[in-house]
Amino acid sequence: MDKIYIIDMGSQYSHLIARRVRELGVYSEIIPHNISIPELMVLSPKALILSGGPSSVYEENSPKLVDGFYEYVETQGIPVLGICYGLHLIIQQLGGKIQPNEKKEYGKTKLEILDNNSLFYSLDKEEIVWMSHGDQISRMPEGFKTLAKTSTCPIAAFGNEKLRIYGVQFHPEVVHTLKGIKILENFIYNIAGAKKEWKLENWIETAIESIKKKVGPINRVVLGLSGGVDSSVCAVLLHNAIGDRLHCIFVNNGVLRKNEEIEVQKQFKEKLKFKNFHYVDAENLFLKRLKNIDDPEEKRKIIGHAFIEVFEKQTIELEAEHSSIKFLAQGTIYPDRVETAATSKNAAKIKSHHNLTLPEDMKLTIIEPLKDLYKDEVRKIGKQLGLESELINRHPFPGPGLAVRCVGAIDKKKLDILREADLILLEEVKKAGIYNELWQVFCVLLPIKTVGVMGDFRTYEYICAIRAVKSKDVMTASFAKLDWDLLEKIGTRIINEVKGFNRVVYDISNKPPSTIEYE
Ligand code: XMP
Repeated sequence: MDKIYIIDMGSQYSHLIARRVRELGVYSEIIPHNISIPELMVLSPKALILSGGPSSVYEENSPKLVDGFYEYVETQGIPVLGICYGLHLIIQQLGGKIQPNEKKEYGKTKLEILDNNSLFYSLDKEEIVWMSHGDQISRMPEGFKTLAKTSTCPIAAFGNEKLRIYGVQFHPEVVHTLKGIKILENFIYNIAGAKKEWKLENWIETAIESIKKKVGPINRVVLGLSGGVDSSVCAVLLHNAIGDRLHCIFVNNGVLRKNEEIEVQKQFKEKLKFKNFHYVDAENLFLKRLKNIDDPEEKRKIIGHAFIEVFEKQTIELEAEHSSIKFLAQGTIYPDRVETAATSKNAAKIKSHHNLTLPEDMKLTIIEPLKDLYKDEVRKIGKQLGLESELINRHPFPGPGLAVRCVGAIDKKKLDILREADLILLEEVKKAGIYNELWQVFCVLLPIKTVGVMGDFRTYEYICAIRAVKSKDVMTASFAKLDWDLLEKIGTRIINEVKGFNRVVYDISNKPPSTIEYE
C-alpha cells in the first residue's frame, strides 16, 4: 500500500494534514523531522509532506532535516511538498533565502496563481487561501519556479519539476483554503502518482484476519472495557475475530457516571451477546483508598494503581480457569501513540493519564488493533461493525472518572450529588440537539459551600460548575457559548432537583491556559 508521511516540524496541523491525506484515500502517518535516512528507507514513502511549524528557519534550534535528505529524495524520485515552515526550510537548505516580512500575513488571503499546470491544476487564476506567517522567501535557489503570489508575498508557492519538490506558503489542509483539498489531491495523485488504497471497508476484513492469525485457534484475550468508543470498537472487532475467547473486564471504580455500569452491561451482554463479560464491582476498594486524599495527582495515581490491581487479580482468576490467556488487548488509537511519544520528550507533565498498563511479569502480548486509526476512523469502523450511534458518538470520559470532576477529597455522598446533576445536564443538552457539536460537557462539584434560599429556608450547599467545550484536537479547546435559556433551564433543574447544590456557575475558560478537566 502506498504511504505518504508527514514530517512534523512542530505544527498544530500535522495531524490534520495526515487526516486529509487519508480522507483522500492514501494511508498517512506522522514522522519526526530528524528521522534518519536508513529509517526513511525502511518506510519507503510514496511522497513526503513537510508540515508548518512555529519556528523561524534562521533560529538556532529550529527543526532541520538530516544531512543527505535531498540527495535521498532526488535519487529515489520521491516528491516533496513543503507547507509554510516546510517551504522555508526547503528553500533555505537548498541555497535560497528566507526573510522576516515587515507585515505578517494572517488569515484569508487572495492568491494569484501564475502556473496552474502542476500543483494548482484546474484551479482559477485567483483563489482564497489561509495564511499564517511572518517569514517569506526573498530569493529562490536555481531551478525553482514561482507558481503563485499574493499582494504582500511575491513567492507564495514554488515548484521544481526536475527535483519533484514543491512548496506553499499557505495551509492547504485547513478548510479556509477553499481549494486546499484539490491542491493536496494534485500533489498526491498527479505529482506523486499514489494509488487510492486506504479504504476502511477493507481495513475491517484485514484487521480481523490479522487478529485471528496472531491469536491462533486456542488462545484467549483480555480487554479492559470502559464503555468508551475506543475500547468498545476494539471489543467488537475482537469479538468478530475470536468470538467468546475474548474476555472483557469492566471495573466499577466507584467514580463512574450514574447507571454507567448498567448501560455498558446491557450493551455488551444483552445486545451484543458477549458471553465473557466480567463485571467487577470494586467501588468500596477505590473509595476506601481515596478517602481524605485531596491532591489531584495523588488521586489519579491511586485510581491507576487500584485499577491495575483489580484487573490483574481478575486476569489471574481467568487464567486459572482457562489457562490460555495470552494476550492483552488495548484500544490505543493513533494520536495516543504519537502524543505519548511527543509528550515524553518536550512537554511538562500536566496530568498523569492512567490508562491501562500491566506489570511486565504478566507476560501477556499486547494487541492494539486500532493503533493506526484516527478517532473519526474508529467511529466509522464502529458504525460499520453495527455499534449504536449513541455509543459511537459519546464524549470522552477520563480514566479517573468523576474523581477529577469532584474537586478535593471525595466520598460517595459528593459523587452521588455530582452524578445526579450530570445526568440532568446530559439529558438537557441531548434534548437541545447539541450534544454532537460539543467535545465534552459535564458537571463539576466545587467543594465550597455558599448560602441560598429555598422557599422559606436558608440552604448552605456546594457549587456546581458546568463545563462545555468545543475542540478539534484536545490540545486546545474553547468554552462553548451555550444558549442562555438552555443554561438557565439546566441551572434551575439542578438546583431544584439535586439536593446538595444550591448554586450553578458556567465555566468560561479556554484551554490553554485552563485544562478541560478540573484535576
Ligand atoms: P485536560 O483536562 O488535560 O484533558 O485538558 C484533555 C482530554 O483528556 C481527557 N482526560 C483523560 N483521558 N485518561 C483518559 O483516558 C485520563 O486520565 C484523562 N484525564 C483527562 C479529558 O477528558 C479531555 O478529553
